[in-house]
Amino acid sequence: MAILDKHKVLEKNVSLLLVFSFLVVTIGGIVQITPLFYLENTIEDVEGMRPYSPLELAGREIYQREGCYVCHSQMIRPMRDEVERYGHYSLAAESKYDRPFQWGSKRTGPDLARVGGRYSDEWHVDHLTDPQSVVPESIMPKYGFLKETLIDGRYIGDFMATHAMLGVPYTEEMIANAQADFQAQADPDSDYDAMLERYPGAQVRNFDGQPGISEMDALIAYMQMLGTLVDFSTFTPDASR
Ligand code: HEC
Repeated sequence: MAILDKHKVLEKNVSLLLVFSFLVVTIGGIVQITPLFYLENTIEDVEGMRPYSPLELAGREIYQREGCYVCHSQMIRPMRDEVERYGHYSLAAESKYDRPFQWGSKRTGPDLARVGGRYSDEWHVDHLTDPQSVVPESIMPKYGFLKETLIDGRYIGDFMATHAMLGVPYTEEMIANAQADFQAQADPDSDYDAMLERYPGAQVRNFDGQPGISEMDALIAYMQMLGTLVDFSTFTPDASR
């Protein structure tokens, strides 16, 4: 009883109540937040993840420029309807080289986190050029103009250096070879072995089927690698962490 009587003092004095509320929130905050600074790793490393290749990164930049993210998320939540429709739920590690991230749950179009390999390159060219030609009820805008703009990867090395500054592990070797790797990935006749060594699993093709490297090539290279780096037939979540 005595201790409850003392509580009356707090209830009758607003300033004192504020001081004590602040103390309680501070202690609660410290208890929650401090341990995060001492954890070695809050993201579980996953085999297969690597930074984007120069061509994929250029495609990702076009994806952002064109506002594709306004209608498409890249985050499969661990709920049954999403997993059945899109595949294995997204892992934190799968977005660890994304600057900026593409998470979200507001979707006008489907989630694209695992769209890589789901359709052929030709399907993507047709769909981007005229979405209604393959999905008649689609409300997606047309992006055929991407085929007309040719790009040569002149600035992609600088862009990778910026990403390196933000913590993406691009090596000096990767940055020095950026433009050559950019061009090698879009040309199956090139000498692309060194590029593949730097970016294991990168797909080498003429993505838009036209001569020259267009913005369409870069965007499709990006679409086709989304969600393909981690092999989920061998992946087991490490629950001990
Ligand atoms: C106005 C909203 C909107 C914008 C902007 C938009 N899309 Fe879409 N997208 C849709 C809708 C709706 C669908 C589903 C119908 C269809 O397949 O066309 C879709 C479907 C897709 C699909 C097929 C996904 C699947 O699993 O079937 C891909 C790939 C895609 N969009 C890529 C893009 C890219 C790349 C951009 C930017 C260049 C983009 N979208 C911009 C609305 C949008």
